[in-house]
Amino acid sequence: TDPSNGLKKLVLKSAQGSTAEVYLHGAHVTSWKSNSGEEQLFVSKKAVFRPPKAIRGGIPICFPQFGHLGPLEQQHGFARNSPFEVEAATSASATLVLRPSAEQLELFPHSFELRVKVTVGDDELQQELTVQNTGADPLPFTTALHTYFAITSIDKAYVAGLQGVPYIDTLKGRDVLTQQQEQVRFQQEVDCIYINTPSELKVVDEGRQEVVVIRKEALPDAIVWNPWVAKSKAMSSGDFGYDEFESMLCVEAAVAASGAVTLAPGESWAGKQTLRLAKLEQLKRN
Ligand code: BG6
Repeated sequence: TDPSNGLKKLVLKSAQGSTAEVYLHGAHVTSWKSNSGEEQLFVSKKAVFRPPKAIRGGIPICFPQFGHLGPLEQQHGFARNSPFEVEAATSASATLVLRPSAEQLELFPHSFELRVKVTVGDDELQQELTVQNTGADPLPFTTALHTYFAITSIDKAYVAGLQGVPYIDTLKGRDVLTQQQEQVRFQQEVDCIYINTPSELKVVDEGRQEVVVIRKEALPDAIVWNPWVAKSKAMSSGDFGYDEFESMLCVEAAVAASGAVTLAPGESWAGKQTLRLAKLEQLKRN
């Protein structure tokens, strides 16, 4: 049987053979493979492909709210639970659009169009979000591209580029701390919101000597998350394996703790994330 229940998805391909898969459900990217065919994104073996449930792994889109930074009760908003429509598609690129349903407008009384353009390039994946306020009142939102990176093993992976950046450790409280080390490593549960980070961050996998370089535009913040043992166990009754924290980490390009974006009626906003695969050796030489 098909674990994805026949849900509709698009398969995109670059000239050199990198691929990406995008579900219409949530405009959710669940796979990005490099030119050599190596999967770069983590999807849980227990992921449930049954709308309106969000898919565990890949790149869920948190909108119109990241976490609880907004008026909605539902963590991370509703875009990841919603059916998008395909507006345009070529072999390497697709644009999907979401307009809120009547039910969603009751919870979040703002008309908008959220467009997600996904493009796969050679060893590269790009996602461009565009939000247009199609209503008569200001539209405030926070958002995140909640990327689950596949890594060989959590003790051989780290996030680079955050040294000196202010952050909130959501497991500890609301104080704003400063990141001391250049490498963010994982030895316990991590759930931190970094505020106004550099536009380039790196997910380094020493296991396979590769790096994914994250470039963010108009997405000032970054959430770094790994559920570790206890939280994985708690989640494992649902859609996450108890030991899967060992093979994933999330870095989420976001508009979060630095403050919501507010769009005047008719106004638009665009944000972008580009992921590029490189060899660790190559990066050290540059
Ligand atoms: C992260 C949050 O962005 O998403 C975590 O910082 C949260 O606190 C995680 O646990 C997963 O959220 P969800 O709603 O997909 O289970």
